[in-house]
Amino acid sequence: MQSMLKDKTIIVGVCGGIAAYKACDVVSKLTQAGAEVWVTVTKEAAQLVTPLTFRTLSRNPVILDLFADELAQIPVPHISITDRADLFMIIPATANIIGKIAQGIADDPLTTMLMAATCPKVLCPAMNNNMWNNPLVQENVNKLNKLGYKFLGPEVGHLACEKDDIGRMVEPQTIIDAAIKMLSQAKDLDGQRILVTAGPTYEDLDPVRFIGNRSSGKMGYALAQAAAERGAEVTLISGPTKLTPPENVKLIQVKSALDMQKAVLANFKQTDSLIMAAAVSDFAPEKMQTQKIKKGKSKSRLVKLSKTPDILADLRKIKGKKKIIGFAAETENLMAGAKQKLKDKGLDFIVANDVSRTDIGFDSDYNEVKIISRQGQVFPSQKLPKLDVANIILDHVR
Ligand code: PMT
Repeated sequence: MQSMLKDKTIIVGVCGGIAAYKACDVVSKLTQAGAEVWVTVTKEAAQLVTPLTFRTLSRNPVILDLFADELAQIPVPHISITDRADLFMIIPATANIIGKIAQGIADDPLTTMLMAATCPKVLCPAMNNNMWNNPLVQENVNKLNKLGYKFLGPEVGHLACEKDDIGRMVEPQTIIDAAIKMLSQAKDLDGQRILVTAGPTYEDLDPVRFIGNRSSGKMGYALAQAAAERGAEVTLISGPTKLTPPENVKLIQVKSALDMQKAVLANFKQTDSLIMAAAVSDFAPEKMQTQKIKKGKSKSRLVKLSKTPDILADLRKIKGKKKIIGFAAETENLMAGAKQKLKDKGLDFIVANDVSRTDIGFDSDYNEVKIISRQGQVFPSQKLPKLDVANIILDHVR
């Protein structure tokens, strides 16, 4: 473990939950792994674990009072330390701190430093089960998930209030493993050229109307963001979406399945891996009308649709050593449908997701997938924010 986190700076924020004692083990182990650990505690946490304990374990002054003599040597400590942080972890994260962060409150050193931090932020919740299930807490958690905060737990287990239910903080080792993974994973895709497709395609019916689908592009954009954060050279081919493209990603915007095909073929050669998360229309109107179709008198109207090119299947003959990952959007027979596509399109992996559910898949901030390899191995994910699912997919396909 020694020096696995050398040159990494980690801020550990400790709040006033009884699980605060577990933060000692985390701070100690992260320090032993070579990280520069700075601990900031709330007043309540300082009642549970003395700042001297954290000072001894981290070998740095503890930040409880920004005007303390011990910090006088550090210019603007809550900014200078935060600016060089690679990771900010809150252990434990109480319902109160989750609510304060979600509301943008910065009224003590911990929340002030967190507000100024631009590094990844990880919260480790610990609270009574009824508090965790409280819609207000869940609303705050969802808001922070959407803003890119990562949550570790809580788990179901023995609680301080003598119940066995959800609300128990994850174990210190889980937190330490996550920190090491996040910081050592940082650039594991360095130099890899990854082509990602995202979003729907629009197939024009007339100058006013089109056939589309409910893809928001979130899954593909999450894949592009995660790959770029891990050092890959990312090109994102996107159908029409309302999303802001991730940083450090080359964006190519397209509209129809044909446009998507052209853009994929134009970029496929200089790619190591293709991840096809776009919801490409399988059909398009046989003929696009040049004028807006008039309503007319008849009660119904027939529109002849023809098949669009199967972009993935057509790549089979020029694939070579490149890795191709497809998605399977199924409303029934998820595994059978996905395995069939994996085989028919000659893919290396297929990511199966059940799009009959509204809490994952199309337009949701969450997804739950089963990654199936060409050799038939299956790697299921839990229901997680799409950025976490994207990282799990990248872990398997890199
Ligand atoms: O965009 P979001 O709102 O985040 O929703 C995410 C998603 C549900 C769109 C995504 O997770 C997903 O499932 N994307 C694939 C949707 C789709 O078209 O699946 P499919 O089973 O119909 O197609 C199978 C594969 O073939 C896909 O990789 C697709 O990109 C590809 N395809 C499809 C049609 C076509 N003409 N050419 C293709 O290459």
